[in-house]
Amino acid sequence: MGVLKRKKGVMLSNLTAARSMCVVVCIFGMVALICAFGCEKKVGVRPSAGGPGTAVAAESGQPETLVLTNAQCVLCHPQQPETIATKGGLHKTEVGCLDCHVEHPPEGAGAIPDCSMCHSGEPHYELKNCGSCHSDTHAPLELKLQGEISEPCLTCHQQQGDEVKKYKSAHTDVACNECHTVHRQIPDCMECHEKHTPDMEFEACISCHPVHMPTQVAYAQDVSSGYCGGCHEQAYHELEKNTTKHHDLACAYCHRDKHKVVPPCYACHGSPHPKAILDKYPNCGQCHGIAHDLKG
Ligand code: HEC
Ligand code: HEC
Ligand code: HEC
Ligand code: HEC
Ligand code: HEC
Ligand code: HEC
Ligand code: HEC
Ligand code: HEC
Ligand code: HEC
Ligand code: HEC
Ligand code: HEC
Ligand code: HEC
Repeated sequence: MGVLKRKKGVMLSNLTAARSMCVVVCIFGMVALICAFGCEKKVGVRPSAGGPGTAVAAESGQPETLVLTNAQCVLCHPQQPETIATKGGLHKTEVGCLDCHVEHPPEGAGAIPDCSMCHSGEPHYELKNCGSCHSDTHAPLELKLQGEISEPCLTCHQQQGDEVKKYKSAHTDVACNECHTVHRQIPDCMECHEKHTPDMEFEACISCHPVHMPTQVAYAQDVSSGYCGGCHEQAYHELEKNTTKHHDLACAYCHRDKHKVVPPCYACHGSPHPKAILDKYPNCGQCHGIAHDLKG
């Protein structure tokens, strides 16, 4: 993260139990006062790094001010401390209430901090509307991913963004969070697609389709020939019936690495016959037929 400006709050541990009680009474007294007299006597609460919670006798003409500590917020705001305690993450361990809430109404108007106060200097922190995803600052990793979201993801996942843009496919038009509905969650292809053959599972799909550029079909040589057979029935059946040594070879052994690659016979066999014969019959198929239905 970028430059972090922070103030140290005052820890409750400084207070003795007796003084804490005192503070409770004091604060409830003030709230009662505010309620009862409708702020007729102006009373403010001011968060401060100063001493523990005490009502400060203000200078003449100034309203009385309560100096607040992190530990006292809970007396009037039970919900936020509860949220932070259970889901606060680094906002629980690295900062306190007063680091963010440097002012308090009615005295201070700047009670709600800007994220940029502490987070700056990286592309992610230039995004607009942080709260649209980080819906509760007190639970900063409780993310809401609503609407179609793609560009903001690329502030951290450049590579996937490059892949979908460079290799245009139907997935280029599918928003990142249409597949990743929850951050870090991987979808199953079958939520949206049929299998080519019944025995295929997710692992098979991604062994041929790099999901962020799914038309760039590529595969390892041990991919099951049955998978190819789902779309190439004729080739599959011819090879299955064939009795030559080609019968034992996998589709992907000959059609290597990338889909639609067709190897020439000499790639594997070099020049198997005397030059005179091959000059006269340049097409191997004239005597051997096709590779799937090879005549030995
Ligand atoms: C004595 C009771 C009391 C204590 C203690 C107290 N607050 Fe408040 N706080 C209030 C009241 C009442 C409001 C509503 C004021 C208003 O809307 O004008 C409020 C409002 C707020 C707001 C909302 C401001 C806004 O603009 O919406 C924040 C943030 C806040 N308090 C933070 C804190 C923090 C942090 C602490 C501890 C350091 C704290 N409060 C301690 C009574 C208290
Ligand atoms: C990392 C900064 C940060 C910390 C730490 C933090 N808050 Fe907040 N707080 C915010 C922001 C930002 C808002 C405005 C609403 C939002 O974005 O969630 C807010 C809103 C509030 C509000 C107004 C009501 C509401 O939820 O909108 C209160 C009250 C409040 N905080 C109290 C506290 C208390 C008490 C603590 C400590 C236990 C605390 N906050 C810790 C940033 C923080
Ligand atoms: C007073 C300083 C401060 C403010 C204001 C603040 N943060 Fe943070 N935040 C931190 C610190 C410190 C960390 C921990 C170090 C880090 O992640 O860089 C942190 C961490 C986070 C994390 C990671 C939490 C985790 O547990 O991994 C998120 C998400 C986050 N902040 C979002 C926000 C958003 C959104 C806002 C504005 C609504 C905001 N912060 C305002 C100080 C702040
Ligand atoms: C489109 C959604 C979205 C928006 C908008 C957004 N964030 Fe995030 N933010 C995320 C996601 C997703 C993560 C990763 C959470 C994780 O690692 O589990 C994250 C992580 C973070 C983190 C902690 C990890 C880190 O690498 O920094 C901070 C801090 C943070 N965001 C701050 C902000 C701030 C500040 C803004 C506004 C300027 C903002 N975010 C806007 C989605 C968003
Ligand atoms: C602030 C940075 C940040 C933002 C923004 C962000 N992520 Fe992440 N994302 C992370 C981090 C950090 C991880 C964990 C990486 C790891 O474990 O290697 C992660 C992990 C993931 C994973 C799981 C990777 C795995 O190996 O299982 C997916 C999927 C993912 N993010 C998708 C998204 C999507 C979609 C978005 C936009 C909605 C997004 N992320 C926005 C930081 C971010
Ligand atoms: C069509 C659904 C789909 C879309 C759209 C999609 N993803 Fe993924 N994503 C997946 C699947 C499935 C995986 C797991 C791939 C694997 O394990 O090989 C994945 C993996 C990831 C990972 C983990 C690392 C990796 O590359 O394997 C990240 C990060 C990620 N996606 C981010 C994004 C981002 C950012 C976008 C938007 C640009 C996006 N995804 C769009 C389905 C999708
Ligand atoms: C959230 C839904 C979703 C998920 C999950 C998903 N896809 Fe798609 N995919 C689509 C849509 C929508 C299209 C375009 C319409 C169609 O062909 O059905 C598409 C198209 C494709 C295409 C054709 C691309 C083109 O440009 O012609 C391939 C290949 C593909 N998906 C493979 C996969 C694989 C493999 C997975 C899992 C790793 C996967 N998809 C997961 C939604 C999804
Ligand atoms: C052996 C490799 C391989 C495997 C395994 C594989 N695919 Fe394909 N897939 C292809 C090829 C090749 C195409 C056709 C590409 C073309 O038309 O050029 C294709 C096309 C598609 C298409 C586009 C529409 C269509 O049917 O032509 C979708 C969607 C798709 N695959 C999804 C999946 C899913 C989901 C899985 C896992 C169940 C999967 N694929 C497994 C190779 C494979
Ligand atoms: C989802 C269906 C599908 C799957 C699975 C599939 N293919 Fe294809 N394949 C096609 C389509 C469609 C074409 C283009 C046909 C055309 O151009 O006439 C094609 C073309 C080919 C071609 C080129 C044909 C030519 O005339 O140049 C070869 C070679 C090929 N596939 C081999 C394979 C192999 C090997 C596998 C398994 C690893 C496989 N295919 C899996 C659909 C598929
Ligand atoms: C990717 C490599 C590859 C390609 C391309 C290929 N073959 Fe073969 N072929 C083999 C292998 C491996 C064998 C088995 C050799 C062995 O076991 O001695 C073989 C065996 C043969 C045999 C002997 C069959 C038997 O049962 O004794 C003939 C004839 C043959 N290939 C002809 C061809 C022709 C004609 C083509 C082109 C249409 C071709 N091959 C393309 C790899 C290939
Ligand atoms: C021994 C190597 C070899 C094996 C094994 C092999 N092929 Fe071929 N394939 C070829 C060659 C060479 C051609 C070009 C036509 C010819 O000369 O035989 C070809 C042509 C093709 C074509 C395009 C022409 C056509 O027949 O439609 C497709 C599609 C194809 N193969 C798919 C497959 C599939 C699917 C498998 C597995 C069931 C497979 N091949 C196994 C070597 C092989
Ligand atoms: C004029 C017919 C003819 C042509 C053209 C021809 N072959 Fe043959 N080939 C044969 C005959 C007959 C045999 C079996 C007798 C033998 O082993 O010499 C054979 C055997 C083979 C063998 C098996 C050798 C072994 O040791 O088991 C391979 C491999 C082969 N041919 C590959 C090819 C390739 C590749 C081409 C094209 C460059 C080709 N042939 C062209 C007739 C031909």
